[in-house]
Amino acid sequence: MLPCCAVRTCHVLVLVLCLSAAEDFDWTKNDRGSFYYGTFPAGFSWGAGSSAYQTEGAWDQDGKGLSIWDVFSHRKGKILQNDTGDSSCQGYYKIKEDISLMKELKLDHYRFSISWPRIMPTGIKSDHVNEKGIKYYDELIDNLLENKITPIATLYHWDLPQVLQEKYGGWQNISMVNYFNEFANLCFERFGNRVKYWITLNNPWSVAVEGYETGEHAPGLKLRGTGAYRAAHHMIKAHAKVWHTYDTKWRGQQKGLVGISLSGDWGEPVDISNQKDIEAAERYVQFYIGWFATPIFHGDYPQVMKDFIGRKSAQQGLGTSRLPTFSSQEKSYVKGTCDFLGIGHFTTRYITQKNYQSGHGSSSYFTDRDLAELVDPRWPDPGSEWLYSVPWGFRRLLNFVKAQYRNPMIYVTENGVSEKITCTELCDDWRIQYYKDYTNEMLKAIKDGVNVRGYTAWSLLDKFEWDEGYSERFGLYYVDFRNKNKPRYPKASVQYYKRIISSNGFPNQREVENWKRKATETCSSSNQLLAAGKFTLKHPL
Ligand code: NOJ
Repeated sequence: MLPCCAVRTCHVLVLVLCLSAAEDFDWTKNDRGSFYYGTFPAGFSWGAGSSAYQTEGAWDQDGKGLSIWDVFSHRKGKILQNDTGDSSCQGYYKIKEDISLMKELKLDHYRFSISWPRIMPTGIKSDHVNEKGIKYYDELIDNLLENKITPIATLYHWDLPQVLQEKYGGWQNISMVNYFNEFANLCFERFGNRVKYWITLNNPWSVAVEGYETGEHAPGLKLRGTGAYRAAHHMIKAHAKVWHTYDTKWRGQQKGLVGISLSGDWGEPVDISNQKDIEAAERYVQFYIGWFATPIFHGDYPQVMKDFIGRKSAQQGLGTSRLPTFSSQEKSYVKGTCDFLGIGHFTTRYITQKNYQSGHGSSSYFTDRDLAELVDPRWPDPGSEWLYSVPWGFRRLLNFVKAQYRNPMIYVTENGVSEKITCTELCDDWRIQYYKDYTNEMLKAIKDGVNVRGYTAWSLLDKFEWDEGYSERFGLYYVDFRNKNKPRYPKASVQYYKRIISSNGFPNQREVENWKRKATETCSSSNQLLAAGKFTLKHPL
């Protein structure tokens, strides 16, 4: 891996592609190196995102209850350097400042999440509703709207009330379906006159696999081979119930949309002429995004998951599959519960077939898939160790979604790249490159006919990056976490993203090349000042 902040040059072949929306995407002929000059459809929505636990801080203020992340991060050894989200970016106290950052970017929308225990401290409505918590989100939403920024609200970005974990085992327990529905219903009641885009769950894959299978995330359970499937099953049902609640009780008057945000890497066969690799790569994607999207769009789990997990469960001598089943009533209840699909996407893997023997007790989500993941060492990886920049994978994933789920309305809810903590670099040219190339692949996907309506850069600010603490920075804005006021400083990518937004795409080669030059002009002096602790903004935030 290159050292942090090293200048990365990615030699992009500048070709103008002639793409036709009428033709089907051809997986074998997709030119990976070309750049497409053109603009996005009128009305395309540009945004940036955050989540409650990662940015708000104020973990024990104004009547907020504990979430599983408060408890998990306070346990020694769970988070890198024992960091916590206790104060994080202090976003709870900085609504106006953060909105001024969004205005600087000229964002059309802002994606944030509502902390369940902030407005229902135990997670249970009949126990207590915390009006101070409601007031915070009221203010945030009102300020966004006053500034013509559309709020996109996520109901669950991983911060389950701790009481629900302790009393019931969290997402292992079917009772979460009703508790989550009550919480969602309260949000629709109190905020739905102003919020028109709702995301039920953020990245349930991570909750299931990292929360209940590997234990790297809260609640930290290691229920290998069963925990993730159970958690996912209950989350899918919870999502469906919330969609139905909105559909029957609120849609008529509020006229909003309810979707889910699914994360997924793209999986590319190592050897595109090898049928086993092709099938393994398809399995990788089906076990990722298909695990959730297939029930929601088609009513049941992907056939390949049912086959593989079922066969392996039988080989272990189990009477039933470790993958739970939906009754026929449940299938029709779950099917079609998505007004738009949120896609979170960061990276790609090469995939090859690899058999795992299923012995007693050795089962896991990972071995169920019978595959191995590989990366190309030439792929840039500036920050998180899992995050390699592979822009062409994004176009492929978007085309996969179009083909598999009958071209749903898509909002990209997360896409971005990190850098290491030691990097106090405001001249983030690798992030500029990442955003440029990934949004360009998204543009090509739209030309392929994929129905993408909006894009959310992840993330607005540097923030608490879960088990990695503050060691990985995803922000367009740098946050100085050593200073208790948590000041924000624009990275060069702010200037660049702003230009993509104001041009609604990439008008022509000359202009686009100028953007980078202009974006990096100011950052080197700001950098030196920041390093020397003397950075002051013209208009302090
Ligand atoms: C997906 C998660 O939803 C988000 O919270 C996190 O910051 C990004 N992945 C990057 O790891």
